[in-house]
Amino acid sequence: TYVVTEACIKCKYTDCVDVCPVDCFREGPNFLVIDPDECIDCSLCVPECPVEAIYAEDDVPEDQREFIALNAELAKQWPPIVERHEPLPDADQWAGVKEKKHLLQR
Ligand code: SF4
Ligand code: F3S
Repeated sequence: TYVVTEACIKCKYTDCVDVCPVDCFREGPNFLVIDPDECIDCSLCVPECPVEAIYAEDDVPEDQREFIALNAELAKQWPPIVERHEPLPDADQWAGVKEKKHLLQR
């Protein structure tokens, strides 16, 4: 499966959503996740993300490994998002911020 990591938090550009052939993105207040039970590993979403938030599970960086379980957990709670929409208002300011984990809203 593929995994959305910290870089997405407070940005939510949603370019990833438009290319997913199986609509497996789920949307929370300031973050998206991928439902690991639905993702078919096509990798199409990876180059779409402007902040490079999406990784194949095996390639998730060491300091982002907790996002594997977090995607699985939140995918069960959040509704599907199937169309791209506007990024969050301050997305461009948050794009370069590294430490955003504590800002994740559930
Ligand atoms: Fe969707 Fe493919 Fe990305 Fe999985 S890898 S989330 S199936 S676009
Ligand atoms: Fe997030 Fe990147 Fe998609 S910022 S919403 S993973 S395009």
